[in-house]
Amino acid sequence: MGTDSDVIALGLVDNEELENPEEVSERLEPYGEDPPISDLLNPDEVSVTMETPPSSRNPFRVMFEVVKKTWNTFTRDTKRAILAIMGLAIVLAIVVIATVSKSASIREPKAESIWDEIRLPTTVVPSHYDVKLKIDMTNERFTGSEDVYIEVTNTTAVLLIHINDVHSDTQGYEMNITQHSVHRLNDKGETVGSIPVKHAFPYTKNSFYVMKSKEEIVPGKYKIYFEWESRLVRGLDGIYISSYKEDGLDKKVLASQMEPLAARKVMPCFDEPSFKATFSMEITAENTYPLVLWNMPEISNTAVDDTWNKFVFQKSVKMSTYLLAFVVADFKCTEPIIESTKGVKVRTCGRKGPVDAGADLYSAKITAKIIDEYETFYGTDFPLPKIDSVAVPDFSAGAMENWGLILYRETALLWDPKKDTYNNKARVNTVVAHELAHQWFGNLVTMKWWNDLWLNEGFASYVEWIGTVKSEPQWNYLDFQTFSDKSRAFAIDSYMSSRPASVDVSKPDDITAQFDSISYSKGSALLVQAKMFMDGTESTTENFENAIRSYVKQYEYGNAEQTDLYEQLDKIYGAKKDTSETRVNIIEVMNTWTLQMNFPVLEVRRYDDNHIAISQRRFLISGSDVSGDKESPYGYQWYVPIEYMTRSRYRVRVAETS
Ligand code: BES
Ligand code: ZN
Repeated sequence: MGTDSDVIALGLVDNEELENPEEVSERLEPYGEDPPISDLLNPDEVSVTMETPPSSRNPFRVMFEVVKKTWNTFTRDTKRAILAIMGLAIVLAIVVIATVSKSASIREPKAESIWDEIRLPTTVVPSHYDVKLKIDMTNERFTGSEDVYIEVTNTTAVLLIHINDVHSDTQGYEMNITQHSVHRLNDKGETVGSIPVKHAFPYTKNSFYVMKSKEEIVPGKYKIYFEWESRLVRGLDGIYISSYKEDGLDKKVLASQMEPLAARKVMPCFDEPSFKATFSMEITAENTYPLVLWNMPEISNTAVDDTWNKFVFQKSVKMSTYLLAFVVADFKCTEPIIESTKGVKVRTCGRKGPVDAGADLYSAKITAKIIDEYETFYGTDFPLPKIDSVAVPDFSAGAMENWGLILYRETALLWDPKKDTYNNKARVNTVVAHELAHQWFGNLVTMKWWNDLWLNEGFASYVEWIGTVKSEPQWNYLDFQTFSDKSRAFAIDSYMSSRPASVDVSKPDDITAQFDSISYSKGSALLVQAKMFMDGTESTTENFENAIRSYVKQYEYGNAEQTDLYEQLDKIYGAKKDTSETRVNIIEVMNTWTLQMNFPVLEVRRYDDNHIAISQRRFLISGSDVSGDKESPYGYQWYVPIEYMTRSRYRVRVAETS
């Protein structure tokens, strides 16, 4: 490196940029006692052989010798008597075994214990839901009916589906299934018979409705029909009533929040992100609530009688249950509707006062603009005909990315130029950019399971800057975001109580606990780092973005896990590299950052004019590891991208542990 070394910074790597790799030697050495990764990966260097003691070489032979010796000591009569008794015992044993196994086959088949598993079996898969809801805002109740079209791939006598399971006055949820039936379908989807259900019950512990059939359900297509009724609660998830004052009067609005596990509070459904299906929806509501919205545009709106209106909606694309959304309100929306370049109909809806004051316009305009930008970024057009954005007076999150019907807290969507601050405007912009990013990454391509939530939220937090920078180029938002994500991530991730970005989760509480700064901010910072690996600098994005586009194309309307994304990144990164060159594998690099918690602090030492050594150590705010610490599969070592600059040249290189 010579005496011209000026800057050494954390950043990216690109071996191609190294004109003279021998000139500089960087090594990432572990501090202290920690073994290097290579040792950890080969723990079996010592081979152990054990001799079997002669006495235990053949226990059956030894037993046989003993029995033979004893038998030879018996008289002929004794031998006959023993043989007769043994014969009788064998006959008796056969009778007993036959009886027991017969009664076992009469008992419930073993498979029934599947409702003790927290996850649904993957051998019953939904393809379509035909749902009708009647929302009674006055009495704060709703009723529903649905046909769920399923495909059974393994013979079973039990069907499981998620339902809301809380029957408590304090919580107020009271979904009560009043009808259920199972029907066999032919290839055309027509009903050709029914399957008698012997016993059905809610299994509260795992939020299941269990249906045991009288006969085996063999592989094929079926339809389950349900009717239910439930209270409409004033909570903040499922479908719920929120209230506000207008001209001195109390008003109600129905809103929804399904992510992560509340769709089951609205309808029986396969409430896991990988059970994607299409939905058809019909909503009947009182005509005092003229605005009734769902994920897809309305086809028709007809008066049933003097009180009730029936809204029928277009069939949805294949989607996960956590993205369903509902609004029943007396709100106003942006008029005329704004269109994106390719014709997506966009409007913002909210209380009449703010909309009359024009507070809907800013979010509606940037929504249309950001859709255009994301269509280019993701290389895929927005697949739905509309996006309604609704400001809800009581909303638990800042906003929720429901497909085609995004719900926001009022302050995250409405911006009145006469009253509100520029800080409010920036908030509206970033939240809109974030939720729109999910319309592709999250909604079109969805994580297989909640353990990859960091990817969903981290990615939207990363893509958010693209939307913001394109819609408000003068804001210098990129500089701000890079800084704010990293500092937020470092703050929480320097404690031993932190967690790896990707963790196994199954219990509902573990799932909700994942919506934290590790998923959002560390996740986003890690994607920036991956982009720098692939593209060389923070401002170039070509390889990374190509990989994202092919990932979206490959998994659209489906589900993927983090390694599926890494594989796409690695494929493109590898193709751009000289194949003779040894290169790090992006999957391995990313795993060291997502499968272990915390992060490294680096120390750079100069040996002489031409050499520096860089070592890494896990950073903890407490200063040192404490006994009882969680083990890491990578021994708390990371692949660290190094970016450096000398007086004469700028270099980037991935330093590997050695
Ligand atoms: N998907 C989340 C909303 C969410 C959060 C659902 C927690 C369930 C539990 C949404 O995309 C989101 O991340 N919203 C953020 C705003 C964003 C700009 C960071 C929020 O609600 O704060
Ligand atoms: Zn999000």
